[in-house]
Amino acid sequence: MKIGILGAGTMGSGIAQVAAQNGHETILVDMNQEMLNKAEDSLDKVLSRLVEKDKISADDKINIQGRITYTKDLEDFRQCGLVIEAIVEKLEVKHQVFSKMESIVSKDCILASNTSSLSIASIGSALKNSERIVGIHFFNPAPLMPLVEIIPGVQTSNNVLLSAKKIIDSWGKTTVVCKDTPGFIVNRVARPFYGEALRIYEEGIADFATIDWAMTELGGFRMGPFTLMDYIGNDVNYAVTESVFSAFYFDPRFKPSFTQRRYSEAGFYGRKSGRGFYNYAEGTVLPEPNRDPILGQKILDRILAMLINEAFDAVFMQVASPEDVDKAMTKGVNYPKGLLEWAEEIGLEKVLKQLEDLFAEYGEDRYRPNALLKRSV
Ligand SMILES: NC(=O)c1ccc[n+]([C@@H]2O[C@H](COP(=O)([O-])OP(=O)(O)OC[C@H]3O[C@@H](n4cnc5c(N)ncnc54)[C@H](O)[C@@H]3O)[C@@H](O)[C@H]2O)c1
Repeated sequence: MKIGILGAGTMGSGIAQVAAQNGHETILVDMNQEMLNKAEDSLDKVLSRLVEKDKISADDKINIQGRITYTKDLEDFRQCGLVIEAIVEKLEVKHQVFSKMESIVSKDCILASNTSSLSIASIGSALKNSERIVGIHFFNPAPLMPLVEIIPGVQTSNNVLLSAKKIIDSWGKTTVVCKDTPGFIVNRVARPFYGEALRIYEEGIADFATIDWAMTELGGFRMGPFTLMDYIGNDVNYAVTESVFSAFYFDPRFKPSFTQRRYSEAGFYGRKSGRGFYNYAEGTVLPEPNRDPILGQKILDRILAMLINEAFDAVFMQVASPEDVDKAMTKGVNYPKGLLEWAEEIGLEKVLKQLEDLFAEYGEDRYRPNALLKRSV
């Protein structure tokens, strides 16, 4: 099957690589020739590195490159069975291109969006045959991250959902099916990892380095929240939080943080700007954490309880199955364990007690324990 990718930026170029590595003739379209050239150059570098590391042969490299057509012409999507859109996150622009693409592709072609924050229902509304819309949400970097969220909109036919899932499964990806709700699984369930860490800092309980130390050393997370926010970019991470918060009709569980906003406003985006929560200028020594085990455990317990509460909520609200919620967090954001499995290990009663204590102490709706967690106890 011929695969079309619209948008040759960070995500589109990575998805094109995955499609081509899996033997598909791939059409990569972007309106900007420079982006196409950049995508072609960076793929050449990535594949050369894979050849050096003996992951693929020199012939594989030539074949993969030969399968991708870089073009500005949408008409080249004509024979595609699946087109995945990965352009700017603006609904009006997506509407225009989806409507245009529908006039070009065959009637059976599946039209997918890689959107992180728009609803699949709203994107699909631009189509005459809106049953063919589906969300196919890859994680960055697409060639490396195993998880792909598959999201049917209310209009999506079951056949389209199953076919989309089958294609992405055949690429060796781990797929999870989830409801068309803000943040899907990962960007919803992961919010407290950032939000509660920022809150703990704002209350003066601990500094960035100590919170990061607690989460990595005691929690086993690959990166602490502040290191990760600096890596993602404070502007990007803040925008995701704000979008989830407003899409949830301002539920206080997702309230963004002034601290992160100020860092973003100041241009302290993180690694990409040389300074974020930490200073990345050459010669700067990173601050030392306070390795107090009692304080560390308190920090870990609090953030983890909030994450577990969110995982329960995703299951409670039928966003996805418990298995898929756990799979999403381990395969999409490298959590050391699925949150529901982790909750069982800690003991549900203990987790509930932590949330009840926070709720009693602060009196904030943000800390209300999920009904499913309560029922499970
Ligand atoms: N960056 C991430 O970490 C990430 C992760 C998952 C999903 N997403 C989603 O993927 C999509 C793309 O994100 P990105 O980070 O790759 O963006 P990007 O800015 O890196 O790339 C977007 C590309 O789309 C092109 N483009 C814009 N309008 C176009 C049009 N009308 N026709 C053709 N090409 C057009 C631009 O020239 C650019 O090359 C967004 O919907 C985003 O929400 C991003």
